Amino acid sequence: MDEILPLRSAVLRGGGPLERALLPGDAEGLGVHWGTWLGGLLVACVSLYEVASGDGVKSTQLRGMATAPELRNQGLGGALLSVAIEDWEARDDAVRPLWCNARIRAVPFYERHGFVGEGEPFVFPGVGEHLRMTYVGGSL
Ligand SMILES: CC(C)(COP(=O)(O)OP(=O)(O)OC[C@H]1O[C@@H](n2cnc3c(N)ncnc32)[C@H](O)[C@@H]1OP(=O)(O)O)[C@@H](O)C(=O)NCCC(=O)NCCS
Repeated sequence: MDEILPLRSAVLRGGGPLERALLPGDAEGLGVHWGTWLGGLLVACVSLYEVASGDGVKSTQLRGMATAPELRNQGLGGALLSVAIEDWEARDDAVRPLWCNARIRAVPFYERHGFVGEGEPFVFPGVGEHLRMTYVGGSL
């Protein structure tokens, strides 16, 4: 968390207090976190959390996908996402399905990695338009 919070905060929260970059489950150590380091510095991250809907149905939510701005569009985020999904798929105890709330700008990125959109886009106030996407496999 010491390394992931500053990256998440800068990329996904526009800076501010690091606590704002905490996601549900982090405090309890419940997420599975993946990172890419360059020169000892964390430059990309993504986290997977087992979650339950209101009616108790379990699934795995992918959250906190971020690459440092100066290193984007070089394949780092995509490679990290692939590794995280491969590991998740290989687990006997993987809780399916795997899904995420994708920022609209990132929808093509997730589509290229085997996610499909569900329903209509919606707005997280203060963050912008999102689309729920589910992993169906078949990364391009
Ligand atoms: C989405 C993100 C993690 C991709 O990381 P990356 O290391 O650039 O990934 P790759 O190089 O493997 O893939 C590049 C693709 O990312 C997407 N992308 C590029 N810039 C982006 C941005 N600012 N925001 C969202 N997606 C972006 C594009 O689909 C791009 O492909 P394109 O060049 O064909 O348009 C990174 O752009 C990012 O951190 N964006 C801001 C935070 C964000 O939107 N995270 C996802 C939250 S759901």
